[in-house]
Parts: sequence; structure tokens; C-alpha cells
Amino acid sequence: MDGNGRWARRRGLPRIEGHRRGINAAREIVRAAGDTDLRFLTLFAFSVENWQRPESEVNALMELLYHFLEEERHYLLENRVRLRCIGRIDELPAPVAKRTRSLIDETAGFTERTLVIALNYGSRTEVLDAVRSYCSAVIKGVEDPDQCDWERFSNHLYTSHDIPDPDLIIRTSGECRLSNFLLLQSAYSEIYLSPVLWPDFDREEFQKAIECYKSRERRFGKTGEQVSAPLPATAQIL
Ligand code: FPP
Repeated sequence: MDGNGRWARRRGLPRIEGHRRGINAAREIVRAAGDTDLRFLTLFAFSVENWQRPESEVNALMELLYHFLEEERHYLLENRVRLRCIGRIDELPAPVAKRTRSLIDETAGFTERTLVIALNYGSRTEVLDAVRSYCSAVIKGVEDPDQCDWERFSNHLYTSHDIPDPDLIIRTSGECRLSNFLLLQSAYSEIYLSPVLWPDFDREEFQKAIECYKSRERRFGKTGEQVSAPLPATAQIL
């Protein structure tokens, strides 16, 4: 969800106003995804690197997040959308962490659709946490390094078990990089680069990304004859 700051600067507004508009865009895309066959939508809301921003911006983002979760609660419960978070939730300010956990618990029973929020997330941190978790399982005798394969190891990632690899990754604001986002899970993801700044990213832009995805041929290392592109089951936006 990139481009909030530029959106605000171009209008002579404070950066936080861009983030505020970014929240509206997030809300619209959550609803747009609900009107499609998408089962998983991930929003990259706050990275481990974002702590380096000015304290006032970090605090404002945390406050926005808190209210976003509060305001989306009704939508998630009414539409039976499960909330999952990836990232180091424990390091967030206590009220944000508490609200996040309680909404995760409240929606845990829903199975049709999942909204994943990447919060205090970074791929490299995720790998380190996975290595720690794997090693500790080895020490307990639950894992055997000789049997280690991708399936066993990936169960120690934040996305373990129930969040599939992204089919489609959308990056807004004309940036052409993954910025430490789901680096392992994106091995075969289709990437869509949109020039639109996140606050202006709407249903129509989202639909364009999905249409573009549908025109791709995914081969996963096989030949074109062996595979054909299914509709996306998961979209991730950063
Ligand atoms: C990137 O724009 C945006 C962020 C770092 C924050 C995105 C988070 C929100 C909009 C809060 C929404 C949270 C949820 C859960 C929906 P930027 O500030 O890097 O923009 P710039 O590159 O133009 O400066």
C-alpha cells in the first residue's frame, strides 16, 4: 500500500493525511475482494523497517491501525471474514496488540475468507523466527533435520499451515521492488505493478490487476502445455 506520503505531498497535506486516505482505500479493497472469489487478501500495513520513521508518524500509524481494526470488526463478523496477522505482534503498542489478538480470536472460526494483515512484518525477521522455531522443535525431538524439506520448514513461517503462497502480488505507486515482503512465499507469485498511489487505488484498479493476472500463464517450472492459470485465490498488496 505504497504512495500515501507522495499522495499527501502533492496536495500540500501532511503525510498522515495520506495514510488516513490510505485507510479508506484499504477498506474499499477489503470490500472489493469480498465481491470476488478471492479467499485470501493480505495488506502490508507496517514493516519492521517502518519503526525508523519519525516517532510522530509511527504513533499516528498505530492510532490509525487501532481504529481500522475497531471499525472493521463489524464488517469482519457480519461477513464471516477471519483475521490473521503475520509479523511480530508482541512488539506493537499494547492496545494495538490486544485489539489485534482479540479480533483474531473472535473471527478464528470463519473458514471461507481470510484477511491477513502484515504488521511489524519483514521477511528476513520471519526467516530468523522460523529458524529459531525449527531449531527448538529439533531440540525437543519434534523435528528431524534429516527429514527437513520445504513443507516441514515452511510450517515454522508466520504463514504456516493455513495461509497459502500468494498467487498475485500488487505493488502500488510505481515502485518495482518487493521490499522484504513474503520473499520466500512469493517464489512463484505473479507481480502486478500499478503506477497509482495507494490512496487512489480503488475497485477499478483492483479489478485491472485481477484481469491482468488472468491473462498470465503460470508454469511453475513446467511447460506451458502442462499447466493453465487458475483464478487467483490470494492477492497480496504492498
Ligand atoms: C506506505 O506509504 C504506507 C505505509 C508505510 C503505511 C500503510 C499503512 C496504512 C495506510 C495503514 C492501513 C493499515 C491497514 C491495516 C489497512 P509511504 O508512506 O511509504 O508513501 P511514500 O512512499 O509516498 O512516502
